[in-house]
Amino acid sequence: MRLQTAEGIETVLEHVNVDIEEGSFTVLVGANGSGKSTLLQVIAGLCPLSKGNVSFGGAELRTGVDVYMALQNPDAQIIGGTPYEDVCFSLELRGLAGDLLEEKANAALELVGLQRERNRPIDELSGGQKQLVSMASALAVDARIIVFDEPTAMLDSSARADVLHAALRLRDAGRTVIWATHALDEAGYADRVIALERGRVRFDGAAEAFFYGAHVGKPEAAPCCMLGFQPPYLVEMVHHLLRGGAELPLRPVVIEQWEKAVAGLCR
Ligand SMILES: Nc1ncnc2c1ncn2[C@@H]1O[C@H](COP(=O)(O)OP(=O)(O)OP(=O)(O)O)[C@@H](O)[C@H]1O
Ligand SMILES: [Mg+2]
Repeated sequence: MRLQTAEGIETVLEHVNVDIEEGSFTVLVGANGSGKSTLLQVIAGLCPLSKGNVSFGGAELRTGVDVYMALQNPDAQIIGGTPYEDVCFSLELRGLAGDLLEEKANAALELVGLQRERNRPIDELSGGQKQLVSMASALAVDARIIVFDEPTAMLDSSARADVLHAALRLRDAGRTVIWATHALDEAGYADRVIALERGRVRFDGAAEAFFYGAHVGKPEAAPCCMLGFQPPYLVEMVHHLLRGGAELPLRPVVIEQWEKAVAGLCR
């Protein structure tokens, strides 16, 4: 994948060969400029490839039908005056009307947790709630694949958790979610983590393998550390314990796993 820059033609993505399972939650990580947004745009059909192809279930991917891209700044995407209006607008663009439109809009707002705010003016919503509006539109229009470019970048921790959990509900409802982030703790919730470095895939696998690697006693050899990422606090703490020789029955990647294990010990 090559792009024209001020310095000439630059190769932005190379040897990227990924096959993403339907109904899974994939988290894309990588340093600034590693190619996350470009890859998402390629998947969403917004950036033409100089070489290679993107397919969906063996057929060509239909931009705007199979895949929906939620932008980092939801203001750039919201058209309606309220969440309900915005979702309805997306549905109208696809030719829906009447009871079915209403039903789909309400179901989508409900699933992302915005039913109470459905008629609030968009200007009164927080950044996180606006992200949820984009998510509801993606859900309502039945996009099979929803890609998010750093959706939590501008949110506080509570809004981040709301948006992340809403995305997990989309996955649980059968949608394929691809999510770029710099917040590594979010990768713990992924079915699959893909780490990019200078346009190449340097890791592709489960979150546990990304954070802990294959050698139990050598956490510094974990792909996460080898690739220069700062592990989330939870993982770093467990790395310390492992380095100190602790024999842990689990390698937690999300805080809920750790809470459960500690609660078990304290019983
Ligand atoms: N429209 C464009 N024209 C030319 N080069 C581009 C364009 N968009 C991105 N690039 C280049 O492609 C490379 C990858 O950029 P990209 O935005 O995909 O990275 P990223 O991983 O999303 O970074 P960040 O974490 O900062 O969002 C960078 O070197 C960037 O300069
Ligand atoms: Mg980016």
